[in-house]
Amino acid sequence: MKYQLVVGVIGLVMGRRHLFAAVDYGAEIGKICDLNPETLRKYQEEYHLSDGQCCTDWTEILNDPRINAVVIATPDQLHREMVEKCLAAGKHVLCEKPLALTREDICAIVSAAKKSNRKCMVGQISRFNSTFVKAKELVDKGVIGDIYYMETEYAHDYATILREWDPSMKEDVNKLASMWRSDPARHGVVGGGCHAVDLIRWFCGDPVEVSAYGTHRLLPQVTYDDATVAILKFSDQLMGKVFVSTGCKRPYTRLTCIYGTKGTLVCDSTKGEIQVYTIGEDGVKVNETPELVTVTVKDHNAVDEFKKFAQHIENDEVVEMDADLGARTVEVCLSIVRSAELGKPVAPDYSFAD
Ligand SMILES: NC(=O)c1ccc[n+]([C@@H]2O[C@H](COP(=O)([O-])OP(=O)(O)OC[C@H]3O[C@@H](n4cnc5c(N)ncnc54)[C@H](O)[C@@H]3O)[C@@H](O)[C@H]2O)c1
Repeated sequence: MKYQLVVGVIGLVMGRRHLFAAVDYGAEIGKICDLNPETLRKYQEEYHLSDGQCCTDWTEILNDPRINAVVIATPDQLHREMVEKCLAAGKHVLCEKPLALTREDICAIVSAAKKSNRKCMVGQISRFNSTFVKAKELVDKGVIGDIYYMETEYAHDYATILREWDPSMKEDVNKLASMWRSDPARHGVVGGGCHAVDLIRWFCGDPVEVSAYGTHRLLPQVTYDDATVAILKFSDQLMGKVFVSTGCKRPYTRLTCIYGTKGTLVCDSTKGEIQVYTIGEDGVKVNETPELVTVTVKDHNAVDEFKKFAQHIENDEVVEMDADLGARTVEVCLSIVRSAELGKPVAPDYSFAD
């Protein structure tokens, strides 16, 4: 018999996509939770849920014995406590990216995931973006030979969504809910840049060293750099570049170029078109007009992400995007931030659990 997933969703802004995905998959909705009663009511009505299925206190999800899987889509600072407690209560967990914001918190989550016998998956959603999925397929088929360089980005203007930083936010859950993106610990490279870092890790593996520079010219609301460029060394024959801007004056997109020994791919998270350049029959000349490989655009593809989570649970599979994977991505992000601060290269440390 099919495992009956009974899902709890905490945080309903990004979480609304997971709620949709869970329903689309055929999971039962146990409870939804949001601190904001209006947000909660909106989704209660949309999904025809009873009052008993809605709460503003997430521990009602934690303590509901029928709920066996929880999606955590709350501010990054809350992930650690929620993941640890949900796993300890015997729930499977899908936690939004970034796994957490500090080395201490990612280590604690990896350790909690190892100790539990539940599935713990991190929502690094770039790995479900349809354009990037197709690009990975082309690379794995050998269309461009071996990658020797890849560049990608996270360019997203936060100017209108940032509140001024207030340190008392840490003690007040309502303040946190409205200003969590301005926390100095939520550096743009970790908070949003983790999408680009995770994407490059998916294609190229774990960098052994990073060198970064930052500028702070666009977002006076925050104390951290709003633009960072990082060079990543994966091996002697493989390097990459990540650009993160949380103040950029252009619409959100993630232009990505993958350079291989036999060809090059140029693509973009928000366009369903991959430009493919390859060496022709003479073994030297490259086509000047790219071959176009097209896909239907699926950015923020929570439907396929949730499906993967559910299948891992139902088939008792090893989780591909596990806590360790999420921790590696955060560790690279933190190393980039540290390198820009110190003005010298930093080697990420990938040992997390005791
Ligand atoms: N995968 C992606 O592409 C993507 C996109 C956006 C955000 N995110 C991640 O998703 C998470 C949420 O981001 P968001 O954009 O939805 O943030 P948001 O601030 O827009 O919304 C968060 C929601 O959670 C609620 N909330 C806050 N604290 C809560 C608590 N203690 N209990 C219950 N509800 C609480 C808030 O009321 C709000 O409705 C973050 O970790 C963020 O980094 C991921």
